[in-house]
Amino acid sequence: MGSKQPRPAGIDRRQFITGASAVAALVVTGCSGDDGGGGAGSAGTGSSTTASASNQTSTTLHSAKLAADPFTLGVASGDPLPDSVILWTRLAPDALAVDGRGGMPADAESVDVVWEVAADDRFTQIVTSGVFTAEARHGHSVHVDASGLKPGTDHHYRFRVGEWQSPVGRARTLPDGSAERLRLAVANCQMLETGAYAAYRHMAGEDLDLVLHLGDYIYEYPGVPGARPSLPETMVVSLADYRLRYASYHLDPDLQAAHARFPFVVTWDDHEVANNYMGDSVPGTGGSPQEQLDRKAAAYQAWWENLPVRIDPPEGPALAVHRSFTVGDLARLHVLDERQHSEVPPCRPDPESTIDFGDCEAREGEDRTRLGADQEAWLEGSLAEGGVTWNLVGNPVVLAGVDSGAADGDAAYYLEVWDGFPQARNRLIEQMAGSSNPVVLTGDYHQGMVLDVHRTPFDTSSEVVAPEFMAPPISSVLFGQDVSPRTPHLREQLNSHGYLSVEVTPDRLTASFQVVADVADAASAVTTASTWTVDAGDPVTRRA
Ligand SMILES: [Fe+2]
Repeated sequence: MGSKQPRPAGIDRRQFITGASAVAALVVTGCSGDDGGGGAGSAGTGSSTTASASNQTSTTLHSAKLAADPFTLGVASGDPLPDSVILWTRLAPDALAVDGRGGMPADAESVDVVWEVAADDRFTQIVTSGVFTAEARHGHSVHVDASGLKPGTDHHYRFRVGEWQSPVGRARTLPDGSAERLRLAVANCQMLETGAYAAYRHMAGEDLDLVLHLGDYIYEYPGVPGARPSLPETMVVSLADYRLRYASYHLDPDLQAAHARFPFVVTWDDHEVANNYMGDSVPGTGGSPQEQLDRKAAAYQAWWENLPVRIDPPEGPALAVHRSFTVGDLARLHVLDERQHSEVPPCRPDPESTIDFGDCEAREGEDRTRLGADQEAWLEGSLAEGGVTWNLVGNPVVLAGVDSGAADGDAAYYLEVWDGFPQARNRLIEQMAGSSNPVVLTGDYHQGMVLDVHRTPFDTSSEVVAPEFMAPPISSVLFGQDVSPRTPHLREQLNSHGYLSVEVTPDRLTASFQVVADVADAASAVTTASTWTVDAGDPVTRRA
């Protein structure tokens, strides 16, 4: 929560006057003729464009005071580069207002937000600052591209609107050139309604360069009354619904603490839109294709508004989310979108679904895309770019193959993961085989796992191309099936909540499973269940 403060402590007076003269107090512009810039730089292929933090003023200004702290949703940073990072907040004095507008005044079409980045957490050494215009059409979200920063350095940031001061966040830029170490946590599947965020509380105490979030940041199901309630109480379908659901999640103090501590790099899975959605097929939305596209567009907009991403705002049901991050000469992180461009898998009839799975037998052998042609071509180039020791693949759904059938029964594959896309999977494995030290980081399955990605999935006589580490869910319900009888390349399975800690050095990658003793308890103990290592030059994982 922000604090009420007439003038921020520790801020140099000249700096304060600069900010104050730019915006008076809180400036609400009634005109909507400007396009405002609004978002951050484009990043569809991992490149950054310059900040669009706006210093514009309007000719039709009027000032208004917000009656309550607008920083209830906390602060966050994301998509770090060596010289810049995205700084995020979303103005919401009444976070759970049912219209999804966060309690912002109806006439607040645009609101100027002062932002500051300092070398110290008392803000005595301001590095850069400016004014960003948060717009109602973007849910009063703030995406500042703070540039001109030093590589591999901790920076502190905060926002101010009128008399209201945000909490202070910390963001570390990526190193440039020779890099000796990268530390990250891998998170996913954080259903607020089914568990507390002890995993995030523990994570916030680590020393990390970034958090990779592989999706299911929210769930779209009707809110569950009880210890962990969320709004709306109905299925999440409209933009107002999605905004309200993100607000429910962002109010959690442990999630806020992790966001304030580390830059996040996020992609999405299905529940950011709807369970098992693929491409333009959005189950549970009604029969009309247009209704499904409208829901997808609303979900994409709310996702963009609520996360610190270096991506331009969406226009309708399309958003380029795949991107890469280069960590000096040490590693490149390739972040994938495995939902938006995917074709639907065959043979998974679901009476609740509006997806037409087609003729199962006829479709079994067809070549289905998971990434779409553009993303697949981009990934091929990104993996082949070189200049780094490690290639980390942020891959939302399991790649190596998982057969959850019983030992004496038939094979049982979830075709929504890569098992439903065998030809596309083979292409991805071949691309990885040509890259330097590929390592797959996965989520979605509500289990922790270590798997070997073989050149031919399930054929353990074929070479190991990469290790795959599946991060356990932060709080979503565990699936709990033992998949070991029919998954011979499984090295470990953990039926636990938590997250994965990863340390990368030039010689070795170390992955540790941090597991939560009691997911219902925000104060639960979190301990290291197991640690695995991979040496550069050898893709076979070893238990430490
Ligand atoms: Fe999930």
